[in-house]
Amino acid sequence: MFVEIILGLASLCLYCYYMFTRTFGKWEAKGIPCVEKPVPLFGNQWPLMTGELSPTQLALKRYDAHKGLKYGVIYMGTEPLLYLRDLDLIKQVMTVDHDHFVDAGFIIGINEFSEANNFGLVTARGERWRKAKAMVTPYMSIKSVKKFVPHVEKVSDAFVEEAARLARLNKDNVVDVEKIVDGYMMDCMTRFLFRFEFGSIKKPDSNYAKAMKALYDDWRFLLPFVMPTWVYELLGVSLTNPKSTGLFTAIAKDLLAKAKKKTDKELEEADDIVSFLLLHRKGRESDIPDRVIIYTLLQFLMDGVESVGGLGTVGLYFFAMNPEFQERLHKEVSEKSNPEDMQLLDETCFEILRLIGFIETHRICTKPWTIPDTDITIPVGMRVQFSNASIMRDPEFYHEPEKFDPERFADHRRQQLTATGMYMPFGMGPRQCLGNQIGRLNMKMLFIKVLRHFRVEPSAKTNREIVFSASGFGRLEGGCKLKLTPRK
Ligand code: HEM
Repeated sequence: MFVEIILGLASLCLYCYYMFTRTFGKWEAKGIPCVEKPVPLFGNQWPLMTGELSPTQLALKRYDAHKGLKYGVIYMGTEPLLYLRDLDLIKQVMTVDHDHFVDAGFIIGINEFSEANNFGLVTARGERWRKAKAMVTPYMSIKSVKKFVPHVEKVSDAFVEEAARLARLNKDNVVDVEKIVDGYMMDCMTRFLFRFEFGSIKKPDSNYAKAMKALYDDWRFLLPFVMPTWVYELLGVSLTNPKSTGLFTAIAKDLLAKAKKKTDKELEEADDIVSFLLLHRKGRESDIPDRVIIYTLLQFLMDGVESVGGLGTVGLYFFAMNPEFQERLHKEVSEKSNPEDMQLLDETCFEILRLIGFIETHRICTKPWTIPDTDITIPVGMRVQFSNASIMRDPEFYHEPEKFDPERFADHRRQQLTATGMYMPFGMGPRQCLGNQIGRLNMKMLFIKVLRHFRVEPSAKTNREIVFSASGFGRLEGGCKLKLTPRK
């Protein structure tokens, strides 16, 4: 009996080992190099699982490990992915050969029809994505975002008022900048999308503000990156916090129901995104169902707060740590009234977006694709990946890449960096980010108002070396407490 049990266990172990490694080596045999040895079941994501590396650190390490190669194979769990290192190849996949890579697939386990893991436009695939993107894009355009300027002015004035109040409460004028910037981004986003706000700058501990902040939960996002898709699906975990999702889904459904009762003229006058989408969806309800609208709005809220909030906070940190630069920027924003004339401010936003780069981009192969100059064909369903953050910190493209140096984006150099793909914080091609304009506007207005009213300085609690937190998008370890001293 004992022998049978041992044999049974040994067979089970062998079977598991086979299942957890059976995909390893196949692409290497076809000529795609694999420079990181995969771990059974977890593939090359093991350092994330153990916490040894943060997602950004792993991406940078992987990029270095592939130096000199155009591509390689990596394993996300047991799933093989084509890792792209060469800029020309990346541009080809993202733009010229886009019809071979229509779907985003940043997490393959998420399903465009699921209730739990749906990101609306981001999750939408094929024709459904194309139609939904075409419909939403005009609301996110420069023209539309310009109409929003008076709204963001109001939100930024509320920010200055509250920051001044908080600074007065502390004898050294120290303010929890991260908290108040998050509140600012929340109010900007809800105003931009719905034309109302929850007053999160002044009430950061309200149920709405807490729920919006909690929408993005690190560990939920990390899970599908550290385990095979089938295990992730089996666990049934949702990518966003279910409580927050429930609250904002209910709000979005309510707004949608109210908007449906309006006439076309009333929808036009309302000027918010729900009215806009209803008006432009007429007759195409089956292409873009309510579900897609609701989840797109949720994703917008999350992006607007998590991504842009991190950028705003880190921007103020850089100003505190670079006092001479801050004075030059202060001069520009005080002397000029139109943000479009503020060259140095524009360069500053470019540089912050470079340093806090989006970690990585994925595409799913939707039509077989042969790697140029090879006979290796990528099949439908296989994912490709590259790291935006690593490219934007490559010393071959950027002198002293870790240094905060906005003037690297002055004049012709900016054109060269953006045209060649060395700079792509928002991705490139038809699937690129829709939040570019609104994200930049919210950031710029924050910087203008803060620099006009305060001198930003490090406090006793500020880390002198920049240390990014392993969690969040561009978040600083230990938060960000700075001195905001009112300027005379
Ligand atoms: C300012 C900080 C932000 C950065 C750095 C950023 C970056 C990105 C990147 C790199 C992508 C992937 C693009 C690709 O796959 O090629 C993306 C996708 C997307 N972003 Fe953003 N984003 C930001 C803010 C926002 C905001 C505020 C919104 C909405 C209000 C937004 C909406 C979207 C959408 C809808 C997509 C998916 C587009 C598609 O699948 O067609 N983003 N973003």
